[in-house]
Amino acid sequence: MRKKITIVGSGQTGATLAHWLAIRGDVDVVLYDIVEGMPQGKALDLMEAMPVIGSDAHIIGTNSWSDTANSDIVVITSGLPRKPGMSRDDLLKVNAGIVADCTRHVAALSPNSILILLTNPLDAMCHIALHVSGFPSERVFGQAGILDTARFRAFLAMETGMSVAEVNAYVLGGHGDDMVPLLGSTNIGGVPVSKLIPADRLAAIVERTRKGGGEIVSLLKTGSAFYAPSAALAQMIDAVLNDRKRILPCAVYTGANGGGYGVNDLYLGLPAVIGAAGVEKIIEVELTAEETTALQKSAAAVKELVEALRGFEPPLLP
Ligand code: LAC
Repeated sequence: MRKKITIVGSGQTGATLAHWLAIRGDVDVVLYDIVEGMPQGKALDLMEAMPVIGSDAHIIGTNSWSDTANSDIVVITSGLPRKPGMSRDDLLKVNAGIVADCTRHVAALSPNSILILLTNPLDAMCHIALHVSGFPSERVFGQAGILDTARFRAFLAMETGMSVAEVNAYVLGGHGDDMVPLLGSTNIGGVPVSKLIPADRLAAIVERTRKGGGEIVSLLKTGSAFYAPSAALAQMIDAVLNDRKRILPCAVYTGANGGGYGVNDLYLGLPAVIGAAGVEKIIEVELTAEETTALQKSAAAVKELVEALRGFEPPLLP
């Protein structure tokens, strides 16, 4: 049976995700938004593209939550994007309420769904979705690590002129300026990156990766990146739909045992096995001492935001 995927928020990222999914052809997509006409218009435009690309995807646009009922996967993209000069954390208050509200609808109408978050500040928003939905943490996770890693891989490929397919890397940690590109294990075709790129250039690439979202925001001036974030979402969805057991860096809940990284009960970007059940396992990769320290710092930054959320009225977290 075809799977039903709801995209909550039909802005640039939501609509571009619908585009990637429509190209697959094997899913039913519901584009939801509060703006009247906009999701309907984008869905109809996509449906009219299907004969050209030869895809049997089915896409509807709606302003009614009832159309999202019994989705297999729900992606929440709703919320305000950054303006130039803003950090992702500046969005905390306004987006917390939006994510909580959307999650309530999703939990009521699609109680067995897998919930994937995109709204920023991402790791903190995952905490809200986990708590408000009451879903097990396997079914609530966030997109960020694939995007951050893709930016890092793209910059390394540009620097060396090698194919992006040969660049193996991970960027872990929270989706913020303290994210942690794992230089120790990054390689191009098996050759350690430190042997291919001088240290000062490598440091500049790490810095550009950390600020990668901001770079796009300052170029676009209105809105934030959407092609790469939605491509990352499509990859996560594909891993779930096909039970691929791919190891993808995602914002996942570390739980009581810290996922092996010594950070308990926190959403953080870590490599995880993604399959039909959602987050099936957190994978422990070897970190250098420096990387461990950087990951702790990144986790502390996420914790600070989660603590800030606890002060909100009405309460969004326990
Ligand atoms: C980015 C935003 C979407 O990194 O978080 O581009």
